[in-house]
Amino acid sequence: MPIVKFVNEKKEIEVPVGANLRQEAIKAGINLYPHVHKVMNCHGFGGCGSCRVRVVKGMENTQPMGALEKVRFNCVPDHLPLAYIGNEDTMRLACKCTVQGDIEVETQPPLNLFGENFFS
Ligand code: FES
Repeated sequence: MPIVKFVNEKKEIEVPVGANLRQEAIKAGINLYPHVHKVMNCHGFGGCGSCRVRVVKGMENTQPMGALEKVRFNCVPDHLPLAYIGNEDTMRLACKCTVQGDIEVETQPPLNLFGENFFS
């Protein structure tokens, strides 16, 4: 069974192949949501973007990003496209990400408007 390592929380969990990352994180007591989004989120429908994570290792062990996820990252005019810039190869919505093999995940990745990725 695949291992999901949450790097910020220093926690590893074993999940079934094809498991939903959001559901497994919640089961393990991992907080995916910043601030008010702990209660104000779309509960896994891919609409709010607040469950965004960075898959820092093992992106090839997740299923490819689907259309809804791509639209959410690229088209909806709010903070999420800003978070996505510079992280296109690593950012996912946990609620739309299924685990096929070992991965390492950073939860609640910060917006970095002044980092090298944004204005470079
Ligand atoms: S929970 Fe809202 S986008 Fe994932």
